[in-house]
Amino acid sequence: MDRIAITGGARLNGVIPISGAKNSAIKLMAASLLTDEPLRLTNMPRLADTKFLGKLLQRLGTSVDEKDGPDGAETVLHTPEVVSSFAPYDLVRQMRASFNVLGPLLARTGTAKVSLPGGCTIGARPVDLHLKALEALGAVIDLHEGYVYAQAPRGLRGAEIAFPFVSVGATEHAMLAAVLAKGDTVLTNSACEPEIEDLAECLNKMGTKVEGAGTPTIRITGVARLNGATHSVIPDRIETGTFAVAAAMAGGEVRLTNTRAHLIESLLVKIEEAGASVERTNDGLIVRRNGGRLKAVDVTTDVYPGFATDLQAQFMALMTLADGESVITENVFENRFMHAPELARLGADITISGREARVKGVEQLTGAQVMATDLRASVGLVIAGLVAKGETMVGRVYHLDRGFERLEEKLGACGANIRRIKGDGEGEEE
Ligand code: UD1
Repeated sequence: MDRIAITGGARLNGVIPISGAKNSAIKLMAASLLTDEPLRLTNMPRLADTKFLGKLLQRLGTSVDEKDGPDGAETVLHTPEVVSSFAPYDLVRQMRASFNVLGPLLARTGTAKVSLPGGCTIGARPVDLHLKALEALGAVIDLHEGYVYAQAPRGLRGAEIAFPFVSVGATEHAMLAAVLAKGDTVLTNSACEPEIEDLAECLNKMGTKVEGAGTPTIRITGVARLNGATHSVIPDRIETGTFAVAAAMAGGEVRLTNTRAHLIESLLVKIEEAGASVERTNDGLIVRRNGGRLKAVDVTTDVYPGFATDLQAQFMALMTLADGESVITENVFENRFMHAPELARLGADITISGREARVKGVEQLTGAQVMATDLRASVGLVIAGLVAKGETMVGRVYHLDRGFERLEEKLGACGANIRRIKGDGEGEEE
């Protein structure tokens, strides 16, 4: 297993180009199953998760062609025919979002057998809302031995679906199925995340009519057939926010390009409150901090446009050195503070009580061996390592590789002392 070694203390100065959004790319890739024509996705991030989903799609009958096009990395996905509607446990278990192939398979072929994703390190994360939405669209669903067996022999039909609470995945899944349903679908209490707007934009290019994405009410006019399209993946707001926090933590001046500041406004106001300066630019933002101690600021995670749960670990890392006590409340997922004990190994003072973490800022963190526990938590440890005295060694970086493209290269280009140590599999904690 690879590890990442960071020697803390260097300020960050430079430019970081932001990649396409992982959370959008994987739903757009699933959308390619809806048509027998090629879907060309540009501004594609190259990540373990996108590679992984590519492998699953290949088993279902999709050709996946990755290349470097004029607008950066692109992937052309083409499914002339669905050769299998079966997504096995081994593949869905490794990446939860693989479950999102269920709706497109069902909509296109009338049948699907997809493994339930199973447990996950950030809480129970059930898929009941996904399944209820598909049932409302006319699917007959049975659960046996960890698999979802879904049938819609006469096709799906439009429906009114009111989500009992907001779910990003269920909203997207309902959209992915409803576009090929007969008639109109109205989704209420939908998630408003930018990745949902991105998916709607792509589906519209493919010939359907999705209105209202980015608001709680989404209207979808189903069509009998979708065509191919070319679509550029929206910038990754979580990667953007992560580097913004890294710059605020390490100090210096970092320009983030190929992104949009408004996607992370709820984070940026907190970074400003904490004492760093943020300049919103045409193609992203610049974060500056020159000396002075950060101030403690409270944050509460929420659905978009609230403070993103996927930036909570990074912000907690930032607060470990702030002056005062910061209260961080996690409202989206249960059990999403697994990074706190790892930050404590670096000298952070954090007390967890239910959904609340109290972070008392300390004067200095000290490098230590730590372990990544999930995708976003692991990058919080890297951020802490940027300022910890001495060397921080982050293990289990496969979590990081799922969602951050060339992380050590991007930080290294701004002056961070960071390097990847290729694992030989011996003497490590795995
Ligand atoms: C997506 C993102 C993830 C982000 C999260 C919240 C992807 C691949 N992942 O995850 O990075 O942290 O949004 O912004 O896009 N829930 C249920 N039943 C369901 C579905 C969800 O109880 O059927 C619960 C979840 O356990 C969680 C909450 O609803 O507590 C929100 O989850 P959801 O918005 O669905 O997150 P994901 O789509 O899984």
